[in-house]
Amino acid sequence: MNESDPKLRSAHSIAHSNIALAKYWGKRNSELNIPAVSSISITLEALATKSSVTFDPHSRGDSLEIDGERFDTEKISVVLDLVRTQSKITDVARIQSSNNFPTSAGLASSASGIAALTIAAASAAGLDLSRKELSMIARRGSASAARSIFGGFVELHAGSQQDGSDSFAEPILDREDWPLEVVVAITQSGKKATSSTTGMLSTAGTSPFFDSWVNSAPAKVAEMREAILALDFQHVGELTEQSCLAMHSLMFTTVPSLIYWNEGTISVIREVQRLRASGTECYFTIDAGPQVKIICEPANSASIVSAISELPAVVEVRRSRLGPDAQLVNPK
Ligand code: PMV
Repeated sequence: MNESDPKLRSAHSIAHSNIALAKYWGKRNSELNIPAVSSISITLEALATKSSVTFDPHSRGDSLEIDGERFDTEKISVVLDLVRTQSKITDVARIQSSNNFPTSAGLASSASGIAALTIAAASAAGLDLSRKELSMIARRGSASAARSIFGGFVELHAGSQQDGSDSFAEPILDREDWPLEVVVAITQSGKKATSSTTGMLSTAGTSPFFDSWVNSAPAKVAEMREAILALDFQHVGELTEQSCLAMHSLMFTTVPSLIYWNEGTISVIREVQRLRASGTECYFTIDAGPQVKIICEPANSASIVSAISELPAVVEVRRSRLGPDAQLVNPK
């Protein structure tokens, strides 16, 4: 099918991955994909997904290719269905994406991928939506994707409405206002063992710590927001490590246990502690995978990259500034 066919509606976008400083784990409504707790993240410039969406009446079903490989369309069809309902388009969609980092390995490829898809699909369908509305659509595909609609420091509200109408992301601080950097230590580039959604359901049903995690989240998120707005790096860093370790404690105490770490993960945590003890201020965080992200101020990122690169279990190191909003782009 010729992409210049006027009957085909298409759009192209780019979105950036994010990592949560105050983590979310667990859902208060699985069907509407509403998180059980609010979260705060930073968007990462160096980890990006480019996506092209084409609504095509001649295709058989929605299709997704990431870097040339076919992927399951379950998560993306949820987003596409919302866009189709709002725009009254009935055509199926072809999505072609490319990531400049390993897919499904705990580097939040679903966050950048679904944010990029949402922006492109809404535009291809002719919808004129606010970023808040876009974040609510993206949330249905993957809650962390709601945060990747925005750049800089972003909060995703868990909200309290049954229908999820108050569960959306919004920016809390621009990246220019606090240009932190992140060093990403990749300790394994294979795909992760248990998806976040499956893991979260299992944790909610079995971890003895899940209720206290949910109950303590509002105060912790408020403390993180205040520390960010005060540009208090030490406080943000300490809260980041506490949130990460609390989330992984939930995972460890899930039955059967969810251990996303590998030996390399531990070696990077130890190196961050060693760097800090020797005067280089930096803090670690880890999502549902073995990779470690290290938050630092720009003056320290080069020395952190060289220290982390020396570790035998680290296969690749990336350095990132904070990223911008997801946006539409011209076709290449
Ligand atoms: O929304 P999902 O399915 O991408 O889950 C993300 C969960 C964590 O990355 C582990 C934590 C977070 O808040 O991003």
